[in-house]
Amino acid sequence: MLKEVNATRFITPLREGGSLPGLVEADDFGTYVLKFTGAGQGRKTLVAEVVCGELARRLGLRVPRLVTIGLDPVLGVGEPDEQVQELLRSSGGTNLGMDFLSGALGFDPLAFPVEAEEAGRILWFDALVNNVDRSWRNPNLLRWRGELWLIDHGATMIWHHNWPGAEASAARPYDASDHALAPFAPDVAAAAAELAPQVTEDLLAEVTAEIPDAWLSGEPGFDTPDDVRRAYARPLLARAAVVHERITGIEGAK
Ligand SMILES: Nc1ncnc2c1ncn2[C@@H]1O[C@H](COP(=O)(O)OP(=O)(O)OP(=O)(O)O)[C@@H](O)[C@H]1O
Ligand SMILES: [Mg+2]
Repeated sequence: MLKEVNATRFITPLREGGSLPGLVEADDFGTYVLKFTGAGQGRKTLVAEVVCGELARRLGLRVPRLVTIGLDPVLGVGEPDEQVQELLRSSGGTNLGMDFLSGALGFDPLAFPVEAEEAGRILWFDALVNNVDRSWRNPNLLRWRGELWLIDHGATMIWHHNWPGAEASAARPYDASDHALAPFAPDVAAAAAELAPQVTEDLLAEVTAEIPDAWLSGEPGFDTPDDVRRAYARPLLARAAVVHERITGIEGAK
């Protein structure tokens, strides 16, 4: 289970983010980036963050540690910004938090070369979860202490918006032509050989067990949160074996 903390102070909104994440302090004295359960994109965005973040971490990619953050809407009372106040008011209960990487820089492909091997592993992972949010325009990669860290996996696994079509979508190609790491000769074949065998049913069960029940219960078409967890695991398991053959738009790939 993800560590649970409670927000004690709202510090500031992070204005660059489309969903307006906030910076908060918690009762363990940690500083976290908080993604609101009441944000426009809804709780599925948070589920996607957990599934992808915890999967990527287990595949050896760097992702800030994730926690759940309990929020008392009363924290919004003194907040001058109306949009933030509204978000705080509508996000009582369980929200997503991640370690704030203090001093991290946005990834700049011109200033920071990436090895073909690492580029391949990140690109293969993005293809697996069908991440449409790692383009050169908006890389969602941070450079922290000389290394690359992955953030923002809210716009992945488009199939979770249409469960009946989920398994069919596992066969769809991934267009990598806009991917932030496409210029670094990503070695996707090596990544697939190394990572695909690690994406097992057991690993996916471990990953999906991290999703808080609160974000799964009442999902239309499912009886229990564990049924939804299995529905996340199935397309990923099927896709892992074949996705490297379905990557388009980069040299060396079909
Ligand atoms: N863990 C972190 N440590 C440091 N800075 C972070 C962290 N997470 C996010 N940020 C900063 O906040 C910005 C917004 O975060 P993120 O991309 O996750 O939000 P979003 O609302 O989903 O964004 P988008 O605009 O891509 O939809 C990032 O671009 C980055 O500058
Ligand atoms: Mg972002």
